[in-house]
Amino acid sequence: MLVSAKEMLTKARAGKYAVGQFNINNLEWTKSILLTAQELNSPVILGVSEGAGKYMCGFKTVTEMVKAMVDELKITVPVALHLDHGTYEGAKKCIEAGFSSIMFDGSHYPIEENIEKTKELVATCNELGLSLEAEVGSIGGEEDGVVGMGECADPDECKMIADLGVTMLAAGIGNIHGKYPENWPGLRFDVLAAIKEKVGDMPLVLHGGTGIPADMIKEAISLGVAKINVNTECQIAFAEATRKYIEAGKDLQGKGFDPRKLLAPGAEAIKATVKEKMELFGSVNKA
Ligand code: 13P
Repeated sequence: MLVSAKEMLTKARAGKYAVGQFNINNLEWTKSILLTAQELNSPVILGVSEGAGKYMCGFKTVTEMVKAMVDELKITVPVALHLDHGTYEGAKKCIEAGFSSIMFDGSHYPIEENIEKTKELVATCNELGLSLEAEVGSIGGEEDGVVGMGECADPDECKMIADLGVTMLAAGIGNIHGKYPENWPGLRFDVLAAIKEKVGDMPLVLHGGTGIPADMIKEAISLGVAKINVNTECQIAFAEATRKYIEAGKDLQGKGFDPRKLLAPGAEAIKATVKEKMELFGSVNKA
């Protein structure tokens, strides 16, 4: 069964740890993340971008695959299936398809329009018992064609959106999707502290979890971050392990070309990455 992210994030906020959102791309990705969460007894959020949803043949396919996998693998830790950076239309489609959690990213709209659309989705999600993430201030970098300029969020705007009754709030604080450039100045903890001051106990979401140093992660959690999104790091780990396998010529030995063999090192690499993050975020044994 899939659950809303509300309870796991309320607990995380109170217990001063964060739940990881790991983006999925296919069956192997999903399986690796679910098995690791179960092994570590950690709650988990599976993130699906609109691009990844399309790649996996639509949100319905994703929902059915994840639900069936949770069942077949006997996963008992809380699992939320979450739309990542959804458009208004995408949010509606995921609600219909059976996702248990939605992100509506209205950060590129003028604040009035972001408020209006978020408000409408709060009502729908509340009625259906789904969690809703909203965003203020864009996340830098590029993800699946969504390009953000990386403006820091305005704490007053954060308060306006938080007051609409969203479950969690993503706020730009100098974070970037993908790899961080050499000259990245780091997270803006002054902005994060000002946001926390305004929004109180609202669980905050840190996007762009790939490559943020451990000490910054810890500090962000101490300032109200209860959900951290990781995508690129799993992709890099998967690609590296797969490349090693091929470069070692293993696909040419015996039945090494069998996809179940060829994709196995990548799947193991995803598991190792997810484990490392869950340990860093403090969600182990918090299911
Ligand atoms: P990274 O790809 O930088 O880990 O960011 C993931 C993310 O924020 C998904 O919304």
